[in-house]
Amino acid sequence: MKLTVAIDGPAGAGKSTIAKLVGKKFNLVYINTGAMYRAVTIIALRNGITAENISKLCNMIDNLEMHFEDDNIIVNGEDLSNEIITPEISGKVSSYAAVLEVRERLVNLQKKIAENYSVVMDGRDIGTVVLKNADFKFYLTALPEKRAERRYKELIDKGINAEYKNILSDIIKRDYADSHREIDPLTKAVDAIEIDSSTMNIKEVVDLMAEYIYRR
Ligand code: CDP
Repeated sequence: MKLTVAIDGPAGAGKSTIAKLVGKKFNLVYINTGAMYRAVTIIALRNGITAENISKLCNMIDNLEMHFEDDNIIVNGEDLSNEIITPEISGKVSSYAAVLEVRERLVNLQKKIAENYSVVMDGRDIGTVVLKNADFKFYLTALPEKRAERRYKELIDKGINAEYKNILSDIIKRDYADSHREIDPLTKAVDAIEIDSSTMNIKEVVDLMAEYIYRR
């Protein structure tokens, strides 16, 4: 039987960590949609294409082959997994993600993947746009300071230079941009279950989601 799980929420709420574990538990393909927007940002920056240059941006995306291998994002044969998480890309991704033509292309790709597999997808518009009919929708959030703390630790653990106060301000800026953009802004789907993970650890969040899924 096919199962679809949508996890949305603000920056650094732990969506990807949780989604990966929920995917393992229920044998679902995990799709990190944020990684797709981040990968588009990397390739655009490498080619000097700004978010305003729509025709070049469209042409660029139309010539990209993007897929996931395990949890790694591969674009035109190159593994971009380490580059997508850098603060430079975090600071720029929201302006590319706000472009209608970028969203149309990535959302189409995401919908196509979900047609063929049982998936758990995380992002900003999964429960509201990409998987409107998902079997389960979760909205995962936490206090901004908690999210910044976790992101800071993640970057330092990976050997990436970071400063807590810059991460916190990036998170606040990105949340604002993502929730106020015109197209498919970050918003909690009416039928989503909200989980505030400020005082919960990873296992507690996964167990809670699993409980909802088993219950039905
Ligand atoms: O991991 P984190 O929560 O920091 O962000 P992400 O999930 O990697 O997403 C990076 C950025 O991509 C977000 O800040 C959004 O601007 C954009 N995004 C989006 O617009 N729609 C999605 N479905 C996923 C990400």
